[in-house]
Amino acid sequence: MIEKPVQDADSGPKISFQNVTRRFGEGEASFLALDRLNLDVGDGEFVTVVGPSGCGKSTAMNIAAGLTDVSDGRVLVDGKPVDGPGPERGVIFQQYALFPWLTVRQNVEFGLRIKRMPAAERRRIADHFISLVGLKDFADALPKTLSGGMKQRCAIARAYAVNPTILLMDEPFGALDALTRVNMQDQLLDTWNRERRTVIFITHDVDEAVYLANRVIVMAARPGRLHKIIPVNLPYPRTEEMRLSPEFAEIRNQVWHAVYHQNTRTN
Ligand SMILES: Nc1ncnc2c1ncn2[C@@H]1O[C@H](COP(=O)(O)OP(=O)(O)OP(=O)(O)O)[C@@H](O)[C@H]1O
Ligand SMILES: [Mg+2]
Repeated sequence: MIEKPVQDADSGPKISFQNVTRRFGEGEASFLALDRLNLDVGDGEFVTVVGPSGCGKSTAMNIAAGLTDVSDGRVLVDGKPVDGPGPERGVIFQQYALFPWLTVRQNVEFGLRIKRMPAAERRRIADHFISLVGLKDFADALPKTLSGGMKQRCAIARAYAVNPTILLMDEPFGALDALTRVNMQDQLLDTWNRERRTVIFITHDVDEAVYLANRVIVMAARPGRLHKIIPVNLPYPRTEEMRLSPEFAEIRNQVWHAVYHQNTRTN
């Protein structure tokens, strides 16, 4: 008989942002980067986050990753307050953060090494994800010899390799060329379809936001806050034909409007 986990994932959201507020600086000069963000993301959901530059997207993600403190409020993962990074949360940063002295393969193996996985298995898993992101011929290369898009693909392989239940992705495909980007979107959706991780994915690309998500979270700036949640009622798997459909265009227009025609709040 398998024991029931203490925190039952079915009993509540996978991630819950509760009044999450973040202020940078002190006194008069302080800046409210995030104002009382409330958002629940269900287990196995794929949400995308869009909004003008500076509206607190990365701040919110870094708080969920356990890398930035809140000024007020809290984030719960499986009902437990986040108080630091954890292996169940895989993070892909806006600025790909690779270890410059490690090769592509060593970078991808890094999290597995921390998990004390035996070398042969580590290698097998790393090579699988290195192939998946198209870097097979560069497994022994150092990051400085790679293009921006290749570095980002290496960072993606590293995050996938540790098999986290939650993926926190901050504009992961921003540095990729259009064709690679579309391929990576499909690969990500494919993996998600098979393994149903919970994904929070930040992007500036409205098309990408709609194509990937079952809900698009639109944020507003000054102060950074939740503006609107737009459901994407299109079935999975998503296809190229869907991208061209009137239904898709309608949702994309809604998101576009919510992002670029926000009423600015003056207080
Ligand atoms: N460490 C910090 N110190 C001071 N201010 C900060 C810090 N980090 C972020 N900010 C400010 O908080 C606000 C939100 O920043 P954040 O990086 O979360 O925005 P974003 O929505 O991710 O923007 P972008 O789309 O450009 O990536 C910005 O005005 C930024 O200047
Ligand atoms: Mg950002």
